[in-house]
Amino acid sequence: MTEKISIHGQWSSRLAFILAATGSAVGLGNIWKFPYITGENGGGAFVAVYLVCIAIVGIPVMMAEIMLGRRGRQSPINTMTSLAREEGVSRAWSLIGWGGVLAGFFILSYYSVIAGWALAYVMRALGGAFNGLDAKGVQGLFGALVGDPERLLAWHTLFMLMSMMVVARGVRAGLEKAVTYLMPMLFILLLVLVGFAMTTGYFMKGLDFLFHPDFNRVFHECKTVAGIEQCELSGSPVLVALGHAFFTLSLGMGAIMVYCSYMPRQASIARSAILIAVLDTLVALLAGMAIFPIVFANGLEPGSGPGLIFQTLPLAFGTMPWGQLVGTLFFVLLVFAAWTSAISLIEPAVAWLVENQGMTRVRASAWIGVTTWLLGLGSIFSFNLWSGDGYKLFGKTFFDLLDYLAANIMLPLGGLLIAIFAGWAMRRQSSEDEFSMQPGPYRLWRWLIRYVSPLAVILVFLNATGILALVVTRLKFVSGGY
Ligand code: TRP
Repeated sequence: MTEKISIHGQWSSRLAFILAATGSAVGLGNIWKFPYITGENGGGAFVAVYLVCIAIVGIPVMMAEIMLGRRGRQSPINTMTSLAREEGVSRAWSLIGWGGVLAGFFILSYYSVIAGWALAYVMRALGGAFNGLDAKGVQGLFGALVGDPERLLAWHTLFMLMSMMVVARGVRAGLEKAVTYLMPMLFILLLVLVGFAMTTGYFMKGLDFLFHPDFNRVFHECKTVAGIEQCELSGSPVLVALGHAFFTLSLGMGAIMVYCSYMPRQASIARSAILIAVLDTLVALLAGMAIFPIVFANGLEPGSGPGLIFQTLPLAFGTMPWGQLVGTLFFVLLVFAAWTSAISLIEPAVAWLVENQGMTRVRASAWIGVTTWLLGLGSIFSFNLWSGDGYKLFGKTFFDLLDYLAANIMLPLGGLLIAIFAGWAMRRQSSEDEFSMQPGPYRLWRWLIRYVSPLAVILVFLNATGILALVVTRLKFVSGGY
């Protein structure tokens, strides 16, 4: 068989591919989202569940996405259509691609708003706005930003323009350059921040919060009513952890798939997937280790929500030596991390428009950019004009709902379908050819992707809807357990 090559070009080397995929994976998810959802879901046990999800669902699904992308070499929609045809199964599998385009569009719309916060904070750090501020002052600064829709709009617009520009320039010229130097720098800066966190006197408390699992809190939703903690059985933190495993690794919507359609053939799939997952997890854990000691040292609330890093790290920058410089550099790198992720969120849609609608990359990027920008307005207003209870559904703002729907439902569902396609719909011969791995590791992957990953996703879904609890009670009843 002659080898297929993508019409959109190819990465220049194996390293370039790894860097691009890591650039996609490492982003706001690691530094902004991971700490705040860990804080909201009680710490250690949530982290433990998240790590298990990365290992038994994230890595196998990432390998499946890499394999499918490299075999199909087109946008996820067309890759799924042509692989389904090759395997002689229903064309309906292309729904994975369509769902992915929609999820990417939803996620980018609010991702860009949050990246806008990071942009705003670059200017503040540069201007020395954090110097000498206490916790109240830092909270006030954050409140003033998110309470002002016009300012949020300006930064959101700027970030969307930046992302469109890179995507319009194409795979090599646009995407590769940004990651080569910036990722390692971000890593080093996080280490500096962890070093600072060690000086707060609350480092051990932070570690304890992150790594000491109290499983009662993950499987139960606890509220303090009149000073007494009351806990109810709840499955949703587990779903949040699973959803985040997909979110942080950029899985379930075709981003990794489309990046891998530009991948040189000689790169090893298993090694690439494990490397990307390990680097990504390391960045998230470092971010947590930098942030929680500062949270506890200043008597802040770990569950304070999406503003968490913007209300804690400035406290560090305001007091540490060279804080103005370190703070500026940190937010610049955060913007870059978000930037290299944002481009992967739209690449599947842009690749499809180029392939099927005959658009140029520039036009396709512009179209997607404008629609995503518009949807982003809903998230902007969630923090000010629409933050009142009158605008909430199920107690969630527009931003919360969109994030929940995309990250916790659409991504795991996409991942589930990818696992079923790669494990069951595809002939064994096809995936074996594509992987060209040792028989042992291949069998392990196949077992994980056929049984373990799909079952884990299904159980978590059933658990979150309360169906699992119902079944378990019934079974206990039937087996005479009561
Ligand atoms: N993984 C990125 C982060 O952690 C976000 C991201 C980029 C993403 N591409 C994606 C999430 C595709 C889901 C799907 O910030």
